[in-house]
Amino acid sequence: MKYKRANVNIAILKYWGKVNNLINLPYQTSISVTADNFYTLTNIELDPKANKDIVILDGKALSGISFTRVSHHLDALRKHFKRKEYCIVNSINRVFIKAGYASSASGFAALTAAYVDAIGAKVSKKELSQLARLGSGSATRSIHGGFVIWHRGKNHETSFAEKLPVKWPEFRMLFTIVDPSVKKISSRVGMQITIEKAKSYADYVKQSNESVEPLIEALKNNDIDATGRIAERAAELMRNVMLEAGLEYHTPTTQQLIQKVKAIRSKHKIPVYYTFDAGPNLILFTLEEYVNEVIRLLPEVEISVSGVGGGITNANS
Ligand code: PMV
Repeated sequence: MKYKRANVNIAILKYWGKVNNLINLPYQTSISVTADNFYTLTNIELDPKANKDIVILDGKALSGISFTRVSHHLDALRKHFKRKEYCIVNSINRVFIKAGYASSASGFAALTAAYVDAIGAKVSKKELSQLARLGSGSATRSIHGGFVIWHRGKNHETSFAEKLPVKWPEFRMLFTIVDPSVKKISSRVGMQITIEKAKSYADYVKQSNESVEPLIEALKNNDIDATGRIAERAAELMRNVMLEAGLEYHTPTTQQLIQKVKAIRSKHKIPVYYTFDAGPNLILFTLEEYVNEVIRLLPEVEISVSGVGGGITNANS
């Protein structure tokens, strides 16, 4: 079967909050790196005779909320392209499922690309990223490879992602498994609660947007220390507003691991930095030459290493 492949991406500068829930318009401009070893493969066939979509993920038909999210996104795409046919969707998730890492970024990016392919439409990557955003905010960035900026924009046309002019093949992500359980509060709900309850949310948005230019500069310079410092600060600023809103995604193990990462940095002079999303797992940023040493210094944690990946591609399973 022929598939569209979309890789997972990890935000270095985070997106946490929507100005508009219907089109996933964010408060923050975010910047991410696409990973090369976790991805989703999706094939779509149109079925003119069907009266609903069928979604098969890893060999099992989806139902309930997971099905509805996919089907709603297909509705949005049908509306956009003025099409009527329902779809048979076949997806394979090659993500770090065991670790509870979310796959909505790669999932909705692959779904969008596969739909566009199925109807034979020709769209630019910019438009593809706008359309992927309608399914999941972070999917906007998974259309592109390398280091990617998602301009928050003011409306559907101006909120899109593009690849940054950064070449950094030595950059590595270390995905840790702190707690394999699935997160309790989805990012969708968590963002809404944060906006309603966190008193310093407006400040957070301002500070986050002020990091855009320094981070682009650090990435262009391949400066792991500057990139890492901005990444850690961005993650901690996001966590502060989460905590203000009463949302705790970390476990005590997450916090212990953060301390260990800081110790590796200060005692061993290894440039390794952390980030996290709405969950207990840390993703570490470092360079190729330090990967083995970081793994050696963290024997108690299961780690999966990823390099910098590409954007949407064609693939066979
Ligand atoms: O688009 P979602 O619902 O997967 O939200 C992603 C939010 C974070 O992962 C926490 C941050 C980000 O920018 O990816």
